[in-house]
Amino acid sequence: ATNRTFTMIKPDAVEKGHIGAILEKISSAGFKIAALKLTQMTKADAEAFYAIHSERPFFGELVEFMTRGPIVAAILEKENAVDDFRTLIGATNPAEAAEGTIRKLYAASIGENAVHGSDSDENAAIEGAFHFAGREQF
Ligand code: CMP
Repeated sequence: ATNRTFTMIKPDAVEKGHIGAILEKISSAGFKIAALKLTQMTKADAEAFYAIHSERPFFGELVEFMTRGPIVAAILEKENAVDDFRTLIGATNPAEAAEGTIRKLYAASIGENAVHGSDSDENAAIEGAFHFAGREQF
């Protein structure tokens, strides 16, 4: 079925000038853009968005990284969107990501890994609503 996922182009990839290249890969893979903006998360935003990781040793580093500059947030629509997008971006650790994936091409490390992709339909809806008002979604 056609459904939606949520993505962020993270501060590392924005800093390096990869917004255009990453959006091109997303469009070429057949995803329709249903919402899109440049935004920056506050510390409170990042702590809430990543609450599930709050007990992990890397949580402080993750919040610091995700708030250090602007991100591109987007909602993407496609058949099998969540799983197909995770295939397109590749493994969390770019060293383990398949050839041609966004993380293989643009990510530097497991922490600074260029892009986010929701891990379930339920989280895609929660994460999309976190960043976009109803009138920003098409
Ligand atoms: P993502 O899967 O988008 O969301 C959780 C993030 O936590 C993950 O991307 C990485 O950016 C980060 N992360 C996961 N594991 C580690 C780790 N071992 N060290 C630092 N950051 C990590």
